Amino acid sequence: MSTIGFFDSGLGGLSILQLAWAQCPEHDYIYLADTAHNPYGEKAAPWIKERGLEIVTHLHQVYGCDVIVVACNTATAEAIQDIRANFPQLKIFGVEPGIKPASLSSQSKCVGILATKATLQSKKFNDLMATMPKDVQFIKIPGTGLVELIEQAHHDQDNINQWLTDHLNELRQSPADTLVLGCTHYPFIKDLIQNHLGHHIHLLDTGQAVVNHLSNYLNTKAPSKVGVQPQGSVLWLCNVDPEGFQFKAQKLLTDTPITGARTKRLEI
Ligand code: DGL
Repeated sequence: MSTIGFFDSGLGGLSILQLAWAQCPEHDYIYLADTAHNPYGEKAAPWIKERGLEIVTHLHQVYGCDVIVVACNTATAEAIQDIRANFPQLKIFGVEPGIKPASLSSQSKCVGILATKATLQSKKFNDLMATMPKDVQFIKIPGTGLVELIEQAHHDQDNINQWLTDHLNELRQSPADTLVLGCTHYPFIKDLIQNHLGHHIHLLDTGQAVVNHLSNYLNTKAPSKVGVQPQGSVLWLCNVDPEGFQFKAQKLLTDTPITGARTKRLEI
């Protein structure tokens, strides 16, 4: 069985971990929440790159992870190329905003993209945008401030509703029929976003696609044996208040509760 390391700046990557845990429960997962440095989306590109390398080094050297899921659009945009170059022996998965499927499925040829400032400014994202069909209009919405509110969502959702009221106006008044959720934190507020925009807007995130790739890879590497598999495990690593993080994580993961997870303070 593989030890699979996930990382994000906080709770966001759990939107992918919960799908992986449901689909591939026999593996061991380490979820690293770098909450001391949350949010990543307002940081400079070189910092995100360096931090991504530091985290993968830690997950590999200290915890023996041989598969890494960069469960963060921002870190994927800025760091995955260097991570892959520095760790050719590891299998690295990333997550990217689903602008291609959105551009293909949009009937109105108008697509909103909600993502962090760093993702929207990254070369990787803009290189991908340059390949999009010219007849599709994209409305980019930087999610500045939203990740911090989602990190506190267990306390208060009013602030999130206010943020959505203040920032989704242009999209509401446009012909957009699709909104790309380009940050792994956003699937946790899907219902709130849908209420703000109405049900005629399709919300698209790529978490399930990432987990399908992961699952195919794990099955090819070591096909599941017929019969009951032993249950894998989850370890939470967090550099600020790990117990508080575990509490918030369990509150978010109501659809796929993770029982028996351990918690450890992250020392980097
Ligand atoms: N959840 C991350 C992403 O997908 C990071 C957000 C942040 O820390 O700003 O971009």
